[in-house]
Amino acid sequence: MKIVAVTSQKGGTGKTTLSGHLAVQAERAGMGPVVLIDCDPQGSLTNWWNCRQVETPILVQTSLANLGEDLVALRETGVRLVIIDTPPAITWTIVNVIKLADLVVIPVRPSPHDLAATGSTVDLIGGLGKPLVFVVNSASPRARITAEAAVALSQHGAVAPAIIHHRTDFAASMIDGRTVMELPRAERSTSEIERLWEYLDTRLKSLNVAPPTAQQSIIPPVAPQTTIEDGQLRAVGGNLR
Ligand SMILES: Nc1ncnc2c1ncn2[C@@H]1O[C@H](COP(=O)(O)OP(=O)(O)OP(=O)(O)O)[C@@H](O)[C@H]1O
Ligand SMILES: [Mg+2]
Repeated sequence: MKIVAVTSQKGGTGKTTLSGHLAVQAERAGMGPVVLIDCDPQGSLTNWWNCRQVETPILVQTSLANLGEDLVALRETGVRLVIIDTPPAITWTIVNVIKLADLVVIPVRPSPHDLAATGSTVDLIGGLGKPLVFVVNSASPRARITAEAAVALSQHGAVAPAIIHHRTDFAASMIDGRTVMELPRAERSTSEIERLWEYLDTRLKSLNVAPPTAQQSIIPPVAPQTTIEDGQLRAVGGNLR
């Protein structure tokens, strides 16, 4: 089982959009069962999932305190991929999630503000010794800043060769629990997500992954703003425990 954390200190970079899309695409590509975990108290990914008509990928509700143990339990049930959406800003939530992740995906919009904000996220991930991949998201077609952003980011880590462009498909599809792959006439957006997953899948396969242990799970007190609902592992759309 591989664990992917989607994270960035900056808000609105596309963490939730990419978490949902990558999970659905991984299922389409035969990587299922795929589990999504929403660690963001805003609950955007959960809201999206609740609107879905199909039950895959599964959304699992857990708490930050139980995350390590619950990932071990998920591995035992045969889950092959877990994608974790995280809140913006550097908080204990992000630190704890990154510690458990095999790969960290950082969506970045190609703008000066977004590029400037990636520094602290990169330092944090680097300090924890985790591999990372930048995904340039919401790029304007043919804009020079897109290439400039990719070059700037490549000095800090791998940049996914699949750029995700700004398209209303991405926002529109998520309104009713879908993704661009599940919309008619969204071939371009679909193909971008397919290419992105293909790249991440290759990266994941090249990692030498050790299983997480429950002890890895948590560190000091969770700041109040990062507390998520406490409770047992509960598969909303499946029967994992
Ligand atoms: N490639 C894209 N094209 C068009 N709209 C996009 C794209 N990616 C994201 N968006 C839109 O941008 C907004 C922010 O995206 P999203 O919620 O995924 O970001 P986020 O990083 O999860 O935000 P937060 O930090 O608040 O959790 C949403 O309205 C989403 O629909
Ligand atoms: Mg979000």
